[in-house]
Amino acid sequence: MAPSTTGSLATVDRGRLATLIDRERAAYRASFPRSRDAFAAAGNHLLGGVPMTWMRMWPGGFPLYHATASGARVTDLDGHEFIDFCLGDTGAMAGHSPAAVQAAVSRRYAELGGATTMLPTPDAAWVAGELTRRFTVDRWSFTLTATDANRWAIRLARQLTRRPKIAVFSYCYHGSVDEAFIVASPQGPQSRAGNVGAPVDPRETTRVVEFNDHAALERELSHGDIAAVLMEPALTNIGIVLPEAGYLDAVREITRRHGTLLINDETHTFSAGPGGCTAAWGLEPDMVTIGKSIAGGIPAGAYGLTTELAERILADPAADIEDTGGVGGTLAGNALSVAAMEATLGEVLTDEAFDGMVAVATRFTAGVRSVLDSRRLPWTIAQLGARAEYRFCPEPPRTGGQSEAAADPELDEYLHLYSINRGILMTPFHNMALMCPATTDADADAHTAVFAAAADDLLTR
Ligand SMILES: Cc1ncc(COP(=O)(O)O)c(C=O)c1O
Repeated sequence: MAPSTTGSLATVDRGRLATLIDRERAAYRASFPRSRDAFAAAGNHLLGGVPMTWMRMWPGGFPLYHATASGARVTDLDGHEFIDFCLGDTGAMAGHSPAAVQAAVSRRYAELGGATTMLPTPDAAWVAGELTRRFTVDRWSFTLTATDANRWAIRLARQLTRRPKIAVFSYCYHGSVDEAFIVASPQGPQSRAGNVGAPVDPRETTRVVEFNDHAALERELSHGDIAAVLMEPALTNIGIVLPEAGYLDAVREITRRHGTLLINDETHTFSAGPGGCTAAWGLEPDMVTIGKSIAGGIPAGAYGLTTELAERILADPAADIEDTGGVGGTLAGNALSVAAMEATLGEVLTDEAFDGMVAVATRFTAGVRSVLDSRRLPWTIAQLGARAEYRFCPEPPRTGGQSEAAADPELDEYLHLYSINRGILMTPFHNMALMCPATTDADADAHTAVFAAAADDLLTR
């Protein structure tokens, strides 16, 4: 039977969707017996049965178990090979185990020896200079995660401004940063659903506004108690929500006028280009935070600030940034992470590599869009450089709230299982696809073909 695509926008038959999910679940269970057995054998000593609890978000009742990975490919315990558009939810944006990072890690760890000594290595100055070239702010320090980069940037912002609160955008995600688990609602700001063991009600620490609403930002900042706005220049963790024309200029103007610092979290928006959105869109943040991908998958993060802010914090007698003042970590800036950052930024995620990654993402986006148009599916796809994501609403969402309202866990499960069962990995959270330097046009086309088949199965009556 042909898919019913004529006339107005296609509608999803929920009964058909449920049947297809059952079919895909059964195929998944049958196709990946070694992963199924490994999960069953994991026993009771892992919290939730997995090494990190969000691994439970993979569909199908058990996660695939990773055997090997290289470039844009992952293989599982049963020997299946996948085109990996998940790329460790950005941790592997450089591709899996790129040769330059393998060499740098093995030289540092095996040949020279010493992953962590509390002594500096000369690579760090090169990495900081390269981060300055890319992201404009010019004094850098290192962390092990993007979460810590955000935590420490927030502390510095509070210290510098002597203000108690920060502002974030509704449905943002900046890692497990206590202050950021707050959403806007018609009843006013609220702790985000499921916020685990919050130290205080986030309304005590944070003001929250919807993205693309500069009047709301103006209103919240006019209280005069906001140290910093912590933002992704485009939201990426509730689907991609792009800034409207002039919005980021307005954010900068409003923050400056109210004496509020602006922190760009480029951890995911790094996909926009070699210097993230900051460089791609000519932004002027006071601080930049980043993590995940900058060391080729080896744990590393970084935060940078302007010279003026750096000098002020270093000269502040009340700020202990060397010992027990709340900024820093024993393994932060360790020799292994720094060596991996140097190789990743110097040889893998280069300006030229981004040209190729963005071109493949553009092809991926065009492929999905052609499927949506030809099937008259009421969904959208947004692209941010090397990243693309589809969302189940006919118009691109303007705010985190709108994007959240377009969430559809059943469609997510169907599309994720359909893809995995046919050799394609998307992130287990919503429908993000990321390109690494090794991702090819053929990979993008393979996704388009599987996505088209999934759509046709869904629309067949
Ligand atoms: C924008 C952004 N910032 C920070 C983080 C935290 O990264 P990590 O979990 O590696 O600390 C994330 C994680 O998804 C993120 O998306």
